Amino acid sequence: MSEKTTSRPAADSGTIDLGGELTVNRLGFGAMRLTGDGIWGPPKDPATAIAVLRRAVELGINFIDTADSYGPNVSEELIAEALAPYPKNLAIATKGGWNRPGANQWTHDASPAHLREAVEGSLKRLRLGRIDLYQLHVPDPMVPFDASMETLANMQSEGKIRLVGLSNVTVEHIERARKVVPIVSVQNRYSFADREWDNVVDYCEANGIAFIPWFPLGAGRVAGKLLQRIAQARQVKPIQIALAWLLKRSPVMLPIPGTSSIAHLEENIQAASLQLSEKEYLELTGITELAS
Ligand SMILES: NC(=O)c1ccc[n+]([C@@H]2O[C@H](COP(=O)([O-])OP(=O)(O)OC[C@H]3O[C@@H](n4cnc5c(N)ncnc54)[C@H](OP(=O)(O)O)[C@@H]3O)[C@@H](O)[C@H]2O)c1
Repeated sequence: MSEKTTSRPAADSGTIDLGGELTVNRLGFGAMRLTGDGIWGPPKDPATAIAVLRRAVELGINFIDTADSYGPNVSEELIAEALAPYPKNLAIATKGGWNRPGANQWTHDASPAHLREAVEGSLKRLRLGRIDLYQLHVPDPMVPFDASMETLANMQSEGKIRLVGLSNVTVEHIERARKVVPIVSVQNRYSFADREWDNVVDYCEANGIAFIPWFPLGAGRVAGKLLQRIAQARQVKPIQIALAWLLKRSPVMLPIPGTSSIAHLEENIQAASLQLSEKEYLELTGITELAS
């Protein structure tokens, strides 16, 4: 193991080129859980949230996922407080397309006016001149999809967004969006225990688009006998096997496990160096065990 991978273990996950111009380690960090309950308001322990973000970067994480709707605003503000001015190689991905009327409440708004306001708000909170990756959080059923995408394309032309991604979409959405603007990433729910979007993973791999699985640990509850058996034989945690499986599932996979705990963060990052054998991988791939 080289010096670099020893001190920056997230680098052991390998790298992915977003849009052929932004290279990040394939194990990222999701900053949604750094807010209060119901993804609402500040966390119970803001000092620990800041420490988790700093430790993630120390351990080689250079892709952090957030959204204006987490808190709302809280997650983006914590990232800036913890990490600005940012290290050169750190990419921050944010998203817009939701309104937050209250705890656990999410209402659509991907109208051009709202997305414009959302991008401007994220730039300010994140203290950035340009957002590395801006993702449409979810298509809005009340707004023509092309109108949402054209707004992000325009903001890219204006220099406010570097790269554009999607979230919570079908292959049809991705193909429609690509007619409007280059798409470098797709973020859908996916994990060892939840493979509904296998076809989107395959489409992304075939087209050189990063696939960012959200809920990659089933909120820490991904489990089952098979994971347990392989984990026990390796003397690691089932969650680490679930992450190693994701990383091996596709070279375009960029998991963003979230946590508010330094111990869990360190455990998750250790999974970057866990190489499953072909036998283990095939066994894990062939048998889907539900999270308990
Ligand atoms: N695009 C979308 O619509 C969308 C939706 C949801 C999430 N996301 C993004 O995806 C990221 C990840 O999704 P997620 O947070 O829903 O799911 P997740 O990463 O599967 O689960 C996070 C939860 O798992 C627990 N956890 C983490 N590491 C653990 C470990 N080693 N052992 C035991 N428990 C552990 C955490 O609790 P502790 O804090 O106690 O560790 C946290 O509650 C989010 O941060 C966000 O950036 C996107």
